[in-house]
Amino acid sequence: MHPLLEKDHQQLIDLIDALDKCVLKGNSINQATKYLDAFVTLAEDEFKNEERIMEAYKYPEIIDHKKEHVRLLEQLHTLQSQLSKGQTPFGKDYMQLLRNWLETHLLDTDNRLEEFLYQINADSDKKNR
Ligand SMILES: [Fe+2]
Ligand SMILES: [Fe+2]
Repeated sequence: MHPLLEKDHQQLIDLIDALDKCVLKGNSINQATKYLDAFVTLAEDEFKNEERIMEAYKYPEIIDHKKEHVRLLEQLHTLQSQLSKGQTPFGKDYMQLLRNWLETHLLDTDNRLEEFLYQINADSDKKNR
């Protein structure tokens, strides 16, 4: 993980694991809400952090990357509002979708940002030599 992207993606994955298990076991809505809320807070923080970095370094893919963040947050906020109305909106399929989506973002979209940041470092090292 690049030092600038300090928030740990692993934490996001761990929380989605916890939520997934919670849903599979049919645990209470309260429990699911707790995990979902923690996940959303962490994701919002993490996305903001990345967006600040992308702006600071004039990352060329910033618009598309931000769009993906917005899309994931929309899905998450929909889940939150359904849960708050006492609905249990996530079947196994939905959780799978969310997980795949998140992992694709982390492995693909975030990875490209990370490579870009390493490239900048390498370039400025060369200049300073
Ligand atoms: Fe990320
Ligand atoms: Fe991202």
